[in-house]
Amino acid sequence: MKRAKITVVGAGMTGSTTAHWCAAANLGDVVLIDVDEGIARGRALDLAQSSPVEGFDVDVVGTADYADTAGSDVIVITAGSPRKPGMSRTDLLNVNANIVKTVTEQALKHSPDAYIIVLTNPLDAMTYVAWKVSGLPKHRVMGQSGILDTARFRYFIAKELGVSVRDVQSFVLGGHGDTMVPLVRYTYVGGVPVENLIPADRLQQLVDRARNGGGEIVQLLRTGSAYYAPARALAEMVEAVLRDQKRILPVSALLEGEYGLSGLFMGVPVLLGGSGVERVIELDLNDEERAAFQRSADEVRGMIQELEALGL
Ligand code: LAC
Repeated sequence: MKRAKITVVGAGMTGSTTAHWCAAANLGDVVLIDVDEGIARGRALDLAQSSPVEGFDVDVVGTADYADTAGSDVIVITAGSPRKPGMSRTDLLNVNANIVKTVTEQALKHSPDAYIIVLTNPLDAMTYVAWKVSGLPKHRVMGQSGILDTARFRYFIAKELGVSVRDVQSFVLGGHGDTMVPLVRYTYVGGVPVENLIPADRLQQLVDRARNGGGEIVQLLRTGSAYYAPARALAEMVEAVLRDQKRILPVSALLEGEYGLSGLFMGVPVLLGGSGVERVIELDLNDEERAAFQRSADEVRGMIQELEALGL
């Protein structure tokens, strides 16, 4: 069988770390592309030279030429300006929409059958841009945020209780922003509802910390934003698609009536497999959760309207 081919657009910290996780898991050959050819080639070569030690058989190459990405099965878009301290994700809207637009057009020209996974912020709006520009059916375009946001929430709960992160299950839905919706009611630790294990006020602090998870790291790093966990979350999606895993994961997907919303990308649980977003899963939300989800949707819709006013 032919090896899969993964293109990662953007050879910054997130892009190169995504290439790292994908290569180390032998998911497919990786092409790391960036406008800065030296960075792309240097990071790819460095990563490829770890293969004899780590023992992965896939190749990693760097380039600035989209012709080298031809025939990719998955295109991961990380290119964009990172969030700087004090800058909201929304501030990034205009700069990054143009980048995502150009990248999507270029990449698809050489890989018309690819699935597109977006990470560029503001995530849900940028995924919308990629979908709109690509003209692809909705199941082939998706954004990564929920796996990351959920991982942060799971980590904080596991630390709080002194248990393995593997035994904490949760869903963080909504847009990737301050209005994201960690679903406490759907959070379990070894099958036990988390609300039975952590008092409500403490749980709320963990919810708030998860919501601010990206910002906390931006503050600490001073220049740049998180990349290990975002990149690992991307690799999870790449793997689910390439290996047709039928995972149930929170993914930014186009809604067409699900959750009472239409015409926008939002973080929702989906069935992710060989055909991309194979199904949006509708969880039963109570009034409070529904209202929070709606607030998050309003925020995402506001960004889409801004983009449309700009003619994007
Ligand atoms: C984060 C930024 C990158 O959540 O969105 O870390």
